[in-house]
Amino acid sequence: MAAAVITKQDAPRGTRAQEDYLEQILSLIEKKGYARVVDIAKNLNIAQASVTGMIQRMDAEGLVSYEKYRGVILTSEGEKIARAIINRHESLTKFFKLFGLYDDTIYDDIEGIEHHMSPPTLATIQALTEELKKQPALLSRVKSKVFQAT
Ligand code: FE2
Repeated sequence: MAAAVITKQDAPRGTRAQEDYLEQILSLIEKKGYARVVDIAKNLNIAQASVTGMIQRMDAEGLVSYEKYRGVILTSEGEKIARAIINRHESLTKFFKLFGLYDDTIYDDIEGIEHHMSPPTLATIQALTEELKKQPALLSRVKSKVFQAT
């Protein structure tokens, strides 16, 4: 089965900070049913006042809709971008999980690199993931080198 590839059109766009916010808002909505400023601030480790300021700017840009007492919802444009960001994160997770790295390491590293990944590079990693899955012997040789190196 071919991997779902993020096309240029679907590629996340926006600043790195906006990408972190959109990713966090969608994941909160999916986990809890709503996204409040207090939870976004806690999860991103950013002061609530700064979060409110950013959310207001993103509201003005049409990415989210913010009402003080109802929390933050994504517009269809915001949701489309957030889904592409989450798909990209998941694709990268699938790749790094092949090598038996720790989940926390994988998560933190992806949070650092994901914003710098263009669609063709991501498509390369997705293709590599599919191919490596079919090569268990190669995969275990790589894994043994990774653990020798750490
Ligand atoms: Fe992420």
